[in-house]
Amino acid sequence: MKVLAVETSCDETGIAVVEGSARHPDTGGIDFEFKTLRAALLSQAHLHAEYGGVYPNLAKREHQKNLPLLFREFEKEEVDAIAVTYGPGLEPALWQGITFAQDLAKKWQRPLIPINHMEAHLISSLAQEGRLENIKLPVLALLVSGGHTEFVLMKEWFEYEVIGETLDDAVGECFDKVARMLGLPYPGGPEISKLAEKHRLQEESSRKGPRVSPPVPFLRGREAGPDHLLKDTSFRLPRPMLTSKNCDVSFSGLKTAALYALRGKKLTEKERAAFAREFEDAVTEVFVAKTRRALEETGTQTFVIGGGVAANKHLRESLQNLITKEFPDVEFRLPELSITGDNAVMIAQTALARLLSGKQKENGAEIRAVGNLSIAA
Ligand code: KG4
Ligand code: ZN
Repeated sequence: MKVLAVETSCDETGIAVVEGSARHPDTGGIDFEFKTLRAALLSQAHLHAEYGGVYPNLAKREHQKNLPLLFREFEKEEVDAIAVTYGPGLEPALWQGITFAQDLAKKWQRPLIPINHMEAHLISSLAQEGRLENIKLPVLALLVSGGHTEFVLMKEWFEYEVIGETLDDAVGECFDKVARMLGLPYPGGPEISKLAEKHRLQEESSRKGPRVSPPVPFLRGREAGPDHLLKDTSFRLPRPMLTSKNCDVSFSGLKTAALYALRGKKLTEKERAAFAREFEDAVTEVFVAKTRRALEETGTQTFVIGGGVAANKHLRESLQNLITKEFPDVEFRLPELSITGDNAVMIAQTALARLLSGKQKENGAEIRAVGNLSIAA
């Protein structure tokens, strides 16, 4: 079965054709193989850079311009269904994909399948090397992107319960805002990550090298907030909600703390790297603590992360460490980097997973963009 998918929820325009098949159809379980036959993706991130975030009307205009350009490669495809992201995301952007997919479905006389963008992050992260197989339920997913941050529990296939989420900003947004404060380009997540990594490596090599003077402890004042910006490269940011007895997170306080800490300061390159590292450490520590709690509370068998921030190396390694040391019976599914950011392959895979298991949503002649669509809807 082949699906052509369209993704326009944010600042990436994507079209992809994916072929899916049930590997052991007689068993009736979820055991699918996906093969990407063609995929095209155009990022507008550079255009939004001067706004420091995605500017909805610009995104809409760009999708409108890019969809027909990308589609040229797909004109001769023959598929069984068309899938499109209908939320969550920026509504003006979503509408571009929806109307394009509706026109195509009419022209090609194929069913149109509406897909939830966050579900697609989850399902595509679960599929390893194009295979959705041997997955033990319940699955716990940590979905971390520019617009969302949530712990999602899947006890039955395609049924989701949000067991924790951000009370304010999404973590990706926080990465982007703090990056901007540090004078780094949009999208800031990968930039912060690079700087933080540089600082870790420097610290490691100076620890290994000859010691001329006793080292200055990097972390001081564990409870320090915005007023405790220390001299040199020792910054300390808060770990919001680290000990709260639920799986919720919050990042607006961290963002404000970063703002105060940096206000009026001109950082050296080394200090900037130290700051990026402290920020990344703060975010990661919160996720490690909340993941531990979520795993303890749910009896999860499979843990997966998805969304743009799931590309973060430090977060990936720290969560891997947690699972290996404390939850050796839980299987951790780490998404390939090529699938963490927004793309149409994940939309096609999700549509195929639903179609092949007979769980697709209704045919979407009346599909509407739903900006705040929940994965549990
Ligand atoms: O899922 P995604 O591509 O788009 C949304 O659905 O929002 O996520 C984009 C977010 C951006 O905030 C970007 O800065 C962040 O993912 N991101 C990262 C990394 N790569 C992308 N954040 C931290 N570390 C990274 N390596
Ligand atoms: Zn996304």
